[in-house]
Amino acid sequence: MGDSAGLESSVTANFVAADSDIEASLRPTSLTDFIGQPRVREQLQLVLTGAKLRGGTPDHILMSGPPGLGKTSMAMIIASELGTSLRLTSGPALERAGDLAAMLSNLVEGDVLFIDEIHRIARPAEEMLYLAMEDFRVDVVVGKGPGATSIPLEVAPFTLVGATTRSGALTGPLRDRFGFTAHMDFYDPPELQRILLRSAGILGVDLGEEASAEIAGRSRGTPRIANRLLRRVRDYADVRADGVITRDVARAALAVYDVDQLGLDRLDRSVLSALVRSFGGGPVGVSTLAVAVGEEPGTVEEVCEPFLVRAGMIARTPRGRVATAAAWEQLGLTPPPEAAAGGIDVRVNEPPQGLFD
Ligand SMILES: Nc1ncnc2c1ncn2[C@@H]1O[C@H](COP(=O)(O)OP(=O)(O)O)[C@@H](O)[C@H]1O
Ligand SMILES: [Mg+2]
Repeated sequence: MGDSAGLESSVTANFVAADSDIEASLRPTSLTDFIGQPRVREQLQLVLTGAKLRGGTPDHILMSGPPGLGKTSMAMIIASELGTSLRLTSGPALERAGDLAAMLSNLVEGDVLFIDEIHRIARPAEEMLYLAMEDFRVDVVVGKGPGATSIPLEVAPFTLVGATTRSGALTGPLRDRFGFTAHMDFYDPPELQRILLRSAGILGVDLGEEASAEIAGRSRGTPRIANRLLRRVRDYADVRADGVITRDVARAALAVYDVDQLGLDRLDRSVLSALVRSFGGGPVGVSTLAVAVGEEPGTVEEVCEPFLVRAGMIARTPRGRVATAAAWEQLGLTPPPEAAAGGIDVRVNEPPQGLFD
């Protein structure tokens, strides 16, 4: 719309700010409002209700899973179900033990302390956290060298909720101090469809049933992506159609944004393409793949790979990552006879037959 570059970029900047506000407005606010993850919801319901019955604070809770599946939303829900307040911080923000001590000493009894990306917490803060989680106290070291003294400090009983995209990167002692771990898994298309229809209701968007199925199928099993696609499709419908999102409008919009039938984005496609074209289908290590596509190994491992494995495109084997027949076909290539058949959820310990022939 804007014909000068300056105007265009300011429009984009406004859109970005508005989008994050919208994301917050779309967060579910109670356990019953939370769509999908039935197991996690049931388990949490028991943990929270049990604690309420006993009149104490619930055990510390760890939530693990890929980005955008509702970990932060769930932490907020936990605090609101308990009727307490949520204190929010993140692993990278806790660089020194003092940062954590300040956070802990401000807690009020029953508070929920949410530490996002808890696997990135610095070592000294982590050690302080052990004691706080176990005994609700910390030892603050004052001074340096032989004159240093350690002052014990009481911490109000609290519940720690940690979120991580890499539970494997957590140290054993930290993991052991959580009483319950919630594993968030990808959502299936009908769940995403319900999430989309709910979001459309909140945003006042006219979203048809078939169109919601179309968007749900391309959302990589991830609510954050579903909501993002909905906003992009809404833009398209407002600008090029009459604001109503029909299936054809959704398809045309998603084509403009380069989202394919399975919801694979550019990075997913380059990972697949590198695996198949540069490494003959593998096996190849994640870090080698990451270098080949010019991305951080962490992003490839935590964002792309879980979905590609779930979609049956990549198999994890003890020798590295392997492209399944579905991956070759996705790229329009004929799979070699030895390529694994693929399918949902190929596990490390059960490599498909014929993989190593
Ligand atoms: N179960 C759900 N129902 C409805 N919307 C959800 C659900 N889970 C996540 N969302 C949406 O996805 C967005 C991202 O969720 P978030 O909790 O920030 O994910 P994470 O912390 O795991 O990255 C939220 O703003 C919310 O709009
Ligand atoms: Mg989050």
